[in-house]
Amino acid sequence: MQRLRNKRVVLGVTGGIAAYKSAELIRHLTKLGAEVQVVMTSAACEFITPLTLQALSHNPVHLDLLDTKAEAAMGHIELARWADLVLVAPATADFMARLAGGLANDLLTTLCLATSAPLCLAPAMNQGMWRDSKTQQNCQELLERNIRLFGPSDGSQACGDIGPGRMLEPELIVEQAADVFESDILTGINLMITAGPTREEIDPVRYISNYSSGKMGYALAEAAVEAGATVTLVSGPVTIPAPDRVSVIDVTSAREMHQAVHGNMNGQDIFIGCAAVSDYRPEEILREKIKKDPDNASETLDIRLVRNPDIIASVSALEQPPFVVGFAAETQNVLNYAADKLNRKQLDLIVANDVSDREIGFSSDNNEVAILGKDLEETLPRASKKVLARKLLKIIGRSYHTWKTEQESA
Ligand code: C5P
Repeated sequence: MQRLRNKRVVLGVTGGIAAYKSAELIRHLTKLGAEVQVVMTSAACEFITPLTLQALSHNPVHLDLLDTKAEAAMGHIELARWADLVLVAPATADFMARLAGGLANDLLTTLCLATSAPLCLAPAMNQGMWRDSKTQQNCQELLERNIRLFGPSDGSQACGDIGPGRMLEPELIVEQAADVFESDILTGINLMITAGPTREEIDPVRYISNYSSGKMGYALAEAAVEAGATVTLVSGPVTIPAPDRVSVIDVTSAREMHQAVHGNMNGQDIFIGCAAVSDYRPEEILREKIKKDPDNASETLDIRLVRNPDIIASVSALEQPPFVVGFAAETQNVLNYAADKLNRKQLDLIVANDVSDREIGFSSDNNEVAILGKDLEETLPRASKKVLARKLLKIIGRSYHTWKTEQESA
């Protein structure tokens, strides 16, 4: 059930006696690593208190559509966008009718219309209400709109009746909720990415750096979270915002990046070196700004550079290295140079791209890459860095699992 880890679930609670089971449902969801935001209808508050659900979900409960204070904290559209899954449990006959009718007359129905996340309902009502032809017609309409129904189950009811309409037990709801997410290829995997450029200080106002924007590394971090990984992003100075749900460690120089990588390497399963690390740094960082010397007619200035540590090679050289993926940004002989780096740096995979092409270069939103490994050579045609990141991670995930199986059987 790792599939619910790090997933954002909006749990809608409507006004039925089964609302008391929502408390248990939240406990199951959070135990499995999901983050839960609860939205209650006013009828639901008659059955269970918002305070209980707030305490269990560790988040304020959302109640009103027109509450300016709550909207300022997290508006209904923001909540709709935030969700990876919207689950309504219990879903009463009234709520299902309003949803089927397309009404948006409270926070929960509005959110259900606005969200693009999968929407699932766990119906709970009296057997007669469930069997009613109008309820059944509503169910059909909801199913046609790709809204999933979990249950209901059959059995004795709070009102004394026996029949269909009982809310599915929370354990079973959670199982079905997990099934909504494809088996994520990187679920349970710890993955570290380096991204962006490094800056090597010359004096208090100058540095050596490169044109890396960090876009590819950040797109990979975002796609890795989507694929279920726990992601640490060690980032050089960039101007793009950090993706959600990623632990970012900001660094400036190559040596700081080296330190941050090794200081956080414990438990990492995959390491992706996407940063454009400066190969050299000034041997000495001057404490005062370098001045043009008016008495010196020299047209040149010498700055002696020394080699920076090769971060990715130092990761591959660890006694128990993670699965290591490098990037080769080249301007010529792209595949040859990449294959050479794969061997020299003892990488498991390398992603090669031609940075001489401005359309797919460092700052561009697009890229076109080839990915090489011991038994792999695949070209991924030009696409946005976000689309490419998802494709790359599928390949990286597959190769990682093969590598891991080989390691375990060796
Ligand atoms: O040798 P080159 O810089 O072309 O190699 C590129 C790959 O090596 C990238 O994965 C980059 O992140 C990594 N690298 C590194 N530390 C360096 C230089 C490069 O991790 N000092």
